[in-house]
Amino acid sequence: MTQERAEIASLLESESERKDVLIQGWVRTRRDSKSFFFLELNDGSCLKNIQVVVTGETPGYEELKAVRTGASVSVLGDLVPSQGKGQKWEAAAKEISLIGDSCETYPLQKKRHSMEFLREISHLRPRANLFGAVFRVRSRLSFAIHRFFQEHGFFYVNTPIITASDCEGAGDLFKVTTLDMHEPPRSEDGLLDFSQDFFSQPTYLTVSGQLEGEAFATSLGKIYTFGPTFRAENSNTSRHASEFWMVEPEIAFCDLEQDMGWAEDFVKWVIKDILDYCQDDLSLFFQFVDKTLEERLKFVVERPFHRVSYTEAIHILHNSDKKWEYPVMWGANLQSEHERFLTEEHFKSPVTVYDYPRDVKPFYMRGNDDGETVAAMDVLVPGIGEIIGGSQREERLDRLLDNMKAHGISHEEYSWYVDLRRYGSVPHAGFGLGFERLLMFVTGVANIRDVIPFARTPGTV
Ligand code: 4AD
Repeated sequence: MTQERAEIASLLESESERKDVLIQGWVRTRRDSKSFFFLELNDGSCLKNIQVVVTGETPGYEELKAVRTGASVSVLGDLVPSQGKGQKWEAAAKEISLIGDSCETYPLQKKRHSMEFLREISHLRPRANLFGAVFRVRSRLSFAIHRFFQEHGFFYVNTPIITASDCEGAGDLFKVTTLDMHEPPRSEDGLLDFSQDFFSQPTYLTVSGQLEGEAFATSLGKIYTFGPTFRAENSNTSRHASEFWMVEPEIAFCDLEQDMGWAEDFVKWVIKDILDYCQDDLSLFFQFVDKTLEERLKFVVERPFHRVSYTEAIHILHNSDKKWEYPVMWGANLQSEHERFLTEEHFKSPVTVYDYPRDVKPFYMRGNDDGETVAAMDVLVPGIGEIIGGSQREERLDRLLDNMKAHGISHEEYSWYVDLRRYGSVPHAGFGLGFERLLMFVTGVANIRDVIPFARTPGTV
């Protein structure tokens, strides 16, 4: 029977010595001495490497004594207390062999590389310490998100990726078509003839699963989606990706106040989970990425978020002596500089801004009694700005139809959505969290391209 390999994470946490363990991993460094050499091996199971001591008598010594960084090797040995500083255990090799060689062009040699360079080698960068840590935390954060919702009675719903609806109405849609782009069929009026397309109508990659999520919330009560989302906005910023993952809970019998409570509790809960379960990886971010990160994460977990209405936020921005690139004006969307001022400088904590002007928001948001605002909310955090956008949905049939008309949305195309208000309509609310934005917040990594395994942004795939 083939021996099972022992993962370095579990070896380094071992309570006692172990005989004949099989370790397989990639060489990070080799240090030579006269009659033996040390290898630092990493297998991706944790941030730390294990030190392997290979003496001249070890079978495989000759073959491996010039092994290069990046090569993969297999070691059979004993786990023994280490003489070295800062490590409890090391492996004394009894047998070592090469699995896959490396060569001098291996780009991850032991020196600091720029983030831009590492982006060009997305296929190898997870082998670098920082990226290994980011992607292990990404995995745990996904799990924490599922745990939060599953433990709070939410059902996981998979909403479609190909859709005919533009949920956000912002027009940032990637088209999905099988029409011949060189000679597309045209109708008599010269327009593209989508009746000949694959789905017999224009279709897109989804910008949000919310509308379908509402159908399931008004059936199952509490649901969440968690999946890829696509936006063709040409925003070349450190916070925008063309393909990102969004988490969208939707809750029946819920108003904006309760929705804000869910959003805030959720953010606190998942950050606490990461603080509890990803200590090693976090220590790298605390030390090398952002010295104030640890304090910020603990602050978020322990302290309440500030809540402020959009109108109050505009007053605060007006009364500050900041010079704004974009003017502060009641009725306009808050820009990133405004959001970051509120959370980083004014409140110095996460902030939930609510009741936005109706004219800057999509058709589905519930109108407030003042006739000018809608029951919308955004959660803003220091260093990033907006990580969550949500709202109470318009559950009143007549109001929804009016909104759709005002936004030029066809009642026929969205008749299924309107049905949800025809048959047992209930107050309901939800929100969307940008998964990568939360990951940036948790790791302190400043560019969204560096928390996505293979980032898709304008001009690059
Ligand atoms: O505010 P947004 O556009 O809200 C919606 O799509 C609603 N349908 C959500 C809902 O109520 N169910 O997007 C939600 C979040 C933003 O707060 C942001 O964190 C993230 O999605 N986001 C992006 N993340 C990365 N790259 C982009 N281009 C993003 N656009 C939005």
